[in-house]
Amino acid sequence: MEVQRVQSLSLGELKELPIQFIRPAHERPENSKAVEGVTVPVISLSQPHHVVVDEVSKASAEWGFFLLTHHGIQSSLIQRLKEVGHEFFALPQEEKESYANDPSTGKFEGYGTKMTKNHEEKVEWIDYFFHVTYPPSKVNHHIWPKNPQTYREVNEEYSNEILRVTDKVLEMLSEGLGLEKKVLRSNLGGEEIEQEMKINMYPPCPQPEVALGVEPHTDMSALTILVPNDVPGLQVWKDNNWVAVDSIPDALFVHIGDQIEVLSNGKYKSVLHRSLVNKERTRMSWAVFIVPPHETVIGPRPELLDHQNPPKYSTKTYAEYRHRKFNKLPQ
Ligand code: SIN
Ligand code: FE2
Repeated sequence: MEVQRVQSLSLGELKELPIQFIRPAHERPENSKAVEGVTVPVISLSQPHHVVVDEVSKASAEWGFFLLTHHGIQSSLIQRLKEVGHEFFALPQEEKESYANDPSTGKFEGYGTKMTKNHEEKVEWIDYFFHVTYPPSKVNHHIWPKNPQTYREVNEEYSNEILRVTDKVLEMLSEGLGLEKKVLRSNLGGEEIEQEMKINMYPPCPQPEVALGVEPHTDMSALTILVPNDVPGLQVWKDNNWVAVDSIPDALFVHIGDQIEVLSNGKYKSVLHRSLVNKERTRMSWAVFIVPPHETVIGPRPELLDHQNPPKYSTKTYAEYRHRKFNKLPQ
């Protein structure tokens, strides 16, 4: 089936936004502006261990979000990751279409754009590329971009670095709950913990004040670790306001996802977030979702429960959680 790509629409020099992109009044950025003078937590991994544990657990409990600096991923690697992503989206449309995904048949990996199922439904101003990057047994290299040729090696290198940072963050989060440091990682599948890469591409939008790049949501992952290009747009929800996230060069944007909220029995919050688009410039972001294998059973950790602290969430497999979230069923 022919898919209308947002990038192609944008190149068509529209004066007006097609109706399916125009959000209802209360959702529009022009009517729900970010609060001034509030900034998200920034945590440096170069501090003493106990300081990092305190800061990570506080930020995860109060915000469900923080920027991480001094994480050890080289600036040049982040740069190359962005370059190969840009190069893919700069390929001729026909070449990109050869990677088209088809979520309706369960083919989630590849080049995608969400489409409306009916006239009322609104869509987001975004195209993306999605694929699994870890563990090797779950990777399907056939669907990875073959162009540029360095796409694979750069993404493999980045994935290894993300694995190392994930381990650190999960250790800090475990310790912040008073648990042995390996507990969260083991509960998320241990060696089998998965990584999915999603390159988000938001082309210039003729009316950014009435559209959204991504509508408000929480991630169903355990963690999401993201790097954006230099076009701002991400906002996180805190104390009944949207807070715009200002980028720091090479900082990692760490989102607590639903699975960590459940495992921590609500001590850590899965952050509600959205992204805005820009009139002149293309915004891009590279999000890595850290997820358990589908059959993993996730529920509040028993060590955190007693008479005063009953479970706030039901226990179920990640596959079941995902099914319910996709179909907007209660958890
Ligand atoms: C998302 O949360 O799906 C995208 C966030 C971003 O592009 O910054
Ligand atoms: Fe998200």
